Amino acid sequence: MQVPLLDLTRQYNSIKSEIDDAVMTVLAHCKFIGGPEVKKFEDEVAAYCGVKYGIGVNSGTDALLIALRACGVGHGDEVVTTTFSFFATAGVISRLGARPVFVDIDPESYNIDIHHIEKAITPRTKAVMPVHLFGQCADMDAIISICRPRGIKVVEDAAQALSADYKGRKAGTIGDFGCFSFFPSKNLGAAGDAGMIVSDRAAEEDFARILRVHGSKPKYYHSHIGYNSRLDTIQAAVLSVKLKHLSRWSAKRHELAHAYDVAFADVEQIRTPYVMPGNYHIYHQYTIAVPDRDRLRDHLLDLKIGCETYYPVPLHAQECYKDLGYKLGDLPVAEKAAREVISLPVFPELTGDEQQHVIDTIRAFYRK
Ligand SMILES: Cc1ncc(COP(=O)(O)O)c(C=O)c1O
Repeated sequence: MQVPLLDLTRQYNSIKSEIDDAVMTVLAHCKFIGGPEVKKFEDEVAAYCGVKYGIGVNSGTDALLIALRACGVGHGDEVVTTTFSFFATAGVISRLGARPVFVDIDPESYNIDIHHIEKAITPRTKAVMPVHLFGQCADMDAIISICRPRGIKVVEDAAQALSADYKGRKAGTIGDFGCFSFFPSKNLGAAGDAGMIVSDRAAEEDFARILRVHGSKPKYYHSHIGYNSRLDTIQAAVLSVKLKHLSRWSAKRHELAHAYDVAFADVEQIRTPYVMPGNYHIYHQYTIAVPDRDRLRDHLLDLKIGCETYYPVPLHAQECYKDLGYKLGDLPVAEKAAREVISLPVFPELTGDEQQHVIDTIRAFYRK
């Protein structure tokens, strides 16, 4: 039996008529940029998260870029962030002329280790950017208590965590800005690239909105040099339909994650995901750690069972950052995770038989 890591066609087929209607409505009214669906979706996400503002942009990457800029990050500044994330987290810092200062991760949650943040702060630190990796929030109370007294802004990279919950608050709503990605494979995925910034802060919200349209307000009057980064109307229409199903899909991911947890509990080589007390993990990825990861990955791929390594190289070890002066061994927990983690199929439409096949295969690999 083949098992995909993700099959978006199943999700589409389950809500096909709703999606098709929403897209046809946009094709009929032709307001492809700035159509009514954009504001509607921005308001829906803001309400879902419990914040005042949602600012639709054209990717999660641009959400981070614009949020950092709205925090005043620019040339010569530093932004403290985790070394274990998708490249966009670091790339946006560098694109603003600032320097990413990478911090090691907590070995259990894979999120930024709050015990190393203070050491990484210098007078040039403008912002701290935690990433809610795999769908679980970083320890936001600790991060806020380090940053607020120092006047350091907090931008949450919640690209993988829309609908995750930290002590009763939604991911993305605790720092100054929260940034979401709606890349098609995300828990809430568009039919292309899309992203959003959420915030409660009126002044910065206005600036972020200006930045996404070439730094102009009103049109053709440019107070800043901004970007072309609007959320397309068609994407907003698709996402609005899908948002209604998100909580149900998250619950299904939970069920699947629980079944894996139970099935692997007696396999001593497997470390299943750790959920921090007070967190609602939405399992954007179900990621286990095993000592012989590459052998397991090759075995699963040989049997056509989808799996992936997020991420094989920590950010401080990326070639493009060799000038920053990090060397292997500097951030050992992340380096170990990069050698050991592997993510398994956990999409809501995964069938019971498929999951059982993944479980049986992995248990047999470890002779269980
Ligand atoms: C942690 C993280 N940050 C940022 C991004 C960038 O989002 P996008 O691909 O929508 O630009 C992603 C997703 O790909 C991500 O996983």
